[in-house]
Amino acid sequence: MGQTIFIPREADANEQRVGASPDTVKKLIAAGFDVIVEAGAGASSRIIDEDFAKVGATIGKPNDASKADVILKVRRPTESELKTCKSGTAVLAIMDPYGNDAALAAMAKAGISAFAMELMPRITRAQVMDVLSSQANLAGYQAVIDAASEYDRALPMMMTAAGTVPAAKIFIMGVGVAGLQAIATARRLGAVVTATDVRPAVKEQVASLGAKFIAVEDEEFKQAETAGGYAKEMSKEYQAKQAALTAEHIAKQDIVITTALIPGRPAPKLVSAAMVASMRAGSVIVDLAVERGGNVEGAVAGKVVTTPNGVKIVGHLNVPGRVAASASLLYAKNLLAFLETMIDKDSKTIKINRDDELVKATMLTDGGAVVHPSFVKAEAVGTPAKAEPETKKASSGKKGDAQ
Ligand code: NAI
Repeated sequence: MGQTIFIPREADANEQRVGASPDTVKKLIAAGFDVIVEAGAGASSRIIDEDFAKVGATIGKPNDASKADVILKVRRPTESELKTCKSGTAVLAIMDPYGNDAALAAMAKAGISAFAMELMPRITRAQVMDVLSSQANLAGYQAVIDAASEYDRALPMMMTAAGTVPAAKIFIMGVGVAGLQAIATARRLGAVVTATDVRPAVKEQVASLGAKFIAVEDEEFKQAETAGGYAKEMSKEYQAKQAALTAEHIAKQDIVITTALIPGRPAPKLVSAAMVASMRAGSVIVDLAVERGGNVEGAVAGKVVTTPNGVKIVGHLNVPGRVAASASLLYAKNLLAFLETMIDKDSKTIKINRDDELVKATMLTDGGAVVHPSFVKAEAVGTPAKAEPETKKASSGKKGDAQ
């Protein structure tokens, strides 16, 4: 009998995604595994149980987790899910490890080998496993769709016999994977797009998508990118200069979409209450960083807030989950690709190579302990985890997913 892979239905009511698709289940079965999918696991992603059954999965119950050698899921296992896991099970998920020391300790205690997919190094070999990219790309797209649906004017310029509708002005703050896709989507919808970021490499990418780049380009800006291609936290002085430049610009915008993040740190505050107040009634702000503290003053996680001057601030949770049927297919593929690197072709079983750089970068807990270098100290002395994962490697050159 082969080893067993279990796909649970996500416990969090806000999670519409699932960790497998019929395509990935089919491949896992072909690789020699038994796959059990919890009943209803794919329902919110438009994958019905029958679709999983057709490719050979068994439809099961939550406590089938106890039979699993591997669990593929979206979110970190809850305390009650951990109770059903057997010791030694490998669990692949988006683990949200920063600031969650107690949850890491609980996973260690349960004896699982927990892999944080979001810590995958951004190297060529691992591009297909990059959940940050696959999900942020869809979030950037969805942010524009959400903005358009809250906005009570048209986005493209329309010259009609009855008059001209002006093109909407959209400003994208933070041009990583999500921001690039937001620019591309806003351009496709006919908006006039501007964008800002603290990383100089972005300037050209913004221009190549037909948008205008706006930033304080001083010495600090020229040094603002880490070896891994991420932003650094900027100085108070830079942030003040940046705020002065963007304040004037934001007052003239119809839609602002913010996506700015710094790995392992709270999101930088980029849009102040005064800037929000400077926008005209009917304008829309979408804060994609709201779950990490937010880029916009007044944004509320999980809510669409209307300010006294009539500006809507959109703070939807789990934005990739708002396009769950697409997000799950890509996420499932990310998980499969990583798991495939762990399959021993001869024995058709999972053999974790603890020297593999992908394993080292992502493995949080193993053999009853927290093992990841960025978090191991936190467990020992109860201090907050380090700011940035040490395991991030230099970017391989593929920049963003916007097409
Ligand atoms: P992220 O989600 O960590 O941050 C989003 C954006 O916010 C970044 O562009 C960041 O520079 C920006 N930001 C941070 N502080 C800011 C501030 N104060 N003002 C304005 N913007 C601010 O970034 P993401 O999307 O994960 O991308 C990071 C980098 O990795 C990018 O260069 C991306 O193109 C690259 N990448 C490389 C891949 C590879 O395989 N080599 C795959 C995917 C992305």
